[in-house]
Amino acid sequence: MSYNEWDQLTKVIVGIADNAKIPDVDISLRCVNYADKIDETEIIKGPYPQRVIDEANEDLDTLCKFLQKENVEVLRPNDTDCNYYNFCPRDSVFVYGDLQMATPMPIRARRGEWRAFEHHLTNPVNIRCYHESSLYNTDCIGNKDVLALTEFEPAFDAANILRANDNVLYLVSNSANRLGSALLQGALGDKAKVHKLENVYSFMHLDSTVAFLKEGLLLANPSRIKSKDDLPGPFKKWDIIWCPEPVDIGHYPRYCNSSTWINMNLLSVNTKLVVLEEQQEPTRIELEKHGIECAMLPMRHARTLGGTFHCVTLDLERKANV
Ligand code: NVA
Repeated sequence: MSYNEWDQLTKVIVGIADNAKIPDVDISLRCVNYADKIDETEIIKGPYPQRVIDEANEDLDTLCKFLQKENVEVLRPNDTDCNYYNFCPRDSVFVYGDLQMATPMPIRARRGEWRAFEHHLTNPVNIRCYHESSLYNTDCIGNKDVLALTEFEPAFDAANILRANDNVLYLVSNSANRLGSALLQGALGDKAKVHKLENVYSFMHLDSTVAFLKEGLLLANPSRIKSKDDLPGPFKKWDIIWCPEPVDIGHYPRYCNSSTWINMNLLSVNTKLVVLEEQQEPTRIELEKHGIECAMLPMRHARTLGGTFHCVTLDLERKANV
């Protein structure tokens, strides 16, 4: 069982880069992924370059070996063909205790992405998104103050959520609407309260804005979170480590799926050890001041593919107090 982002990790799914591609642009991809691009012709379609796929797979294998040495059971998705990718299992399934929810992902091409690792889930619940055109607001293109999703139906990627036992943080952004947070609250019942984080970051996913390190301690992106007051509910009372400016590791020419802040996208093995992208020395120094050791591992295509160690994993089991 896994109820938070920091207890001792014991079982995890690590993504794979095989068959990663950028699908044809439809309204869902245009609004959710590429609202920041005014010129649609800048969006490249088709398979990622083979070099990207091969190097990303090498780095994922390095992560797997590291986790296995830490006595973590590592599982992988199938390498079957897909419409988008299986690089980021974090995006498609929300795990909280025995709840394993395949979330209603708003990008049509990502529908069913979780099936590549369904065989590792014990009791998955699949929540469909219907991808009606009324779900999308094309006014978001070129305007980060207009969100991509309307409230036509619940829609969210699992990577818009972070877990902290009784409390869960949910980013309302281009990849998650408010109806989605209500649906999540219904699924969690009284086991955890969903707190909406709003008006801090419009684009995809929460895990380059906030990382939970242990109960009462989080790492925050100071370009998005300006003060504790931006955080909802109990998180206002947490201690904050302000993440230093990330080191830009660059991206494959013309392929860029994330900001430089993808480099704060760490995976906690436990409260004293995290996996961090190997060039993020300033962040390592800051975390180590707080007694958190950093395993510095490569993820050369983090910005190209849009995922570092939190994104490319999905923790199925963590053990408290070991
Ligand atoms: N879209 C985010 C990365 C999400 C993990 C960013 O570009 O910062």
